[in-house]
Amino acid sequence: MEFYDVVEDRKSSRSYKPNPIENEKLYRILESLTFAPSWSCQNCLRVLMVDEGGLIKNIAGCVNEENPAQEGLIEAPVVMVMCADPAGAEEIDSKEYYMCDCGIAMEHIMLAACSEGLATCWIGLFDEHKVKSILEIPDNIRLVAISPLGYRNEAGGTKKKKKSIKDIAYYQKWDNELVFKKEDCLTTEE
Ligand SMILES: Cc1cc2nc3c(=O)[nH]c(=O)nc-3n(C[C@H](O)[C@H](O)[C@H](O)COP(=O)(O)O)c2cc1C
Repeated sequence: MEFYDVVEDRKSSRSYKPNPIENEKLYRILESLTFAPSWSCQNCLRVLMVDEGGLIKNIAGCVNEENPAQEGLIEAPVVMVMCADPAGAEEIDSKEYYMCDCGIAMEHIMLAACSEGLATCWIGLFDEHKVKSILEIPDNIRLVAISPLGYRNEAGGTKKKKKSIKDIAYYQKWDNELVFKKEDCLTTEE
């Protein structure tokens, strides 16, 4: 798939087929992680790939039942847990950069998965302490995201309406509207 097609096609899926994932696809998805930028190139993140049914069920038990992503987590053949050692990235001006590393890494995974015909759903709300205990993750490691990985159920996931460029991009200064005069030229003029 072309890059912009992948970006446009990706959407969170909350329902999965039980079909297993081909190893070469898993490999390529994980390889995409190795190309991600990270704080000082420290690569402080780690991702756990879980495909054991009992473990997946236990992880799903750490997600609140009211969370719309919980069911998909149980259905998917693989669950990924994105972790990081905060000591491997600095905190400056109250910004903890390991969170950025994990966010970028998640996006690499989610786009790579999409280009392989697979689906994901970032889950940010879960009982971190319990998941750490289930997966025997050391105390110093933080868990940033969990995501199911698998083939989307046809019914699963609808494309959300996003903000337009003019809602999220300003020109030169804060709140200054950006419009495209020509395709190749940024300006505030119509
Ligand atoms: C930091 C973060 C945390 C999220 N946590 C959850 C979650 O706990 N449960 C859930 O169903 N979706 C979660 N999502 C997915 C968002 O709801 C989803 O990305 C958003 O609605 C846009 O839809 P789309 O991914 O299909 O474009 C999370 C996304 C992000 C980036």
